[in-house]
Amino acid sequence: MTVSDDLRRVIEANARLWAGEAEVFRTYWTWSGRTRETDRQWLAYQCYKEVWSVVSGDPADGLFMGTLRQLERMFPKIDADIDRHEVLDVAEGLWAEFAHYCAFADAYDAMGRPGEPKMNPRMVKGTGWKADEELGALRHSHRKQYGALGERACKFTEGGYCTLFSEGMKLAANPAGHDGRDGIIAEACAKVYDDEFGHMLKGIVGLDREGLTREDWALFERITQEQLRSRILMRNDQFGKPLSERRIREIFAGEVTPIAFDYAQARLAA
Ligand SMILES: [Fe+2]
Ligand SMILES: [Fe+2]
Repeated sequence: MTVSDDLRRVIEANARLWAGEAEVFRTYWTWSGRTRETDRQWLAYQCYKEVWSVVSGDPADGLFMGTLRQLERMFPKIDADIDRHEVLDVAEGLWAEFAHYCAFADAYDAMGRPGEPKMNPRMVKGTGWKADEELGALRHSHRKQYGALGERACKFTEGGYCTLFSEGMKLAANPAGHDGRDGIIAEACAKVYDDEFGHMLKGIVGLDREGLTREDWALFERITQEQLRSRILMRNDQFGKPLSERRIREIFAGEVTPIAFDYAQARLAA
């Protein structure tokens, strides 16, 4: 698949924001405020995201139940109104996101001390995480306002170019670090990385064939950037604010080295 100038422009416009999200994790890994407790805290937030936070669908259902209900609605229409591969795709999404929950819940449990509670979805349901709810609400409004283009934007920004997982995987260089927690995190992140890269690709594949107008592309660029800014706030919150407000303002102003988008991995000929 070749990449159009329009798509390339959107990717380049977002590359600094992806780098900003990566900076949250890189800063956190060696941050003085990092403890076993803060590690368990961000992992609990991540577990919440995998089961309850939504990229599409009704926020009230959460990801797991929302997808189950969607599959239930689809079932009688398979190969009539809905292509079977579309259904398989939704089922794969549920499988993958639940696998991510398992990976992070396992990491959470592995860092627990005897007598400390183990992870379960109910435990994190009432997380009441404002920064993540704001991202969810923004995505929801984009889908409502802009339909298919909004939906695509949500897919495009899903996982934030996988920077949590790619930065987390780098901790494998010293698995014994932070009393072995670096190795535990690296292992969980490695399990998730490929899936999430694939989920982002779903926002990209076919985008060039949709005959988007100049205005559509401009809109797509604007709303993906809005979502990615919101993602940085969500991530910084998740990790206990390793980045200062000032640093975030600088990132939003573009004062950050952009991520080098891997066109080969995305199967986009450069
Ligand atoms: Fe996930
Ligand atoms: Fe995903």
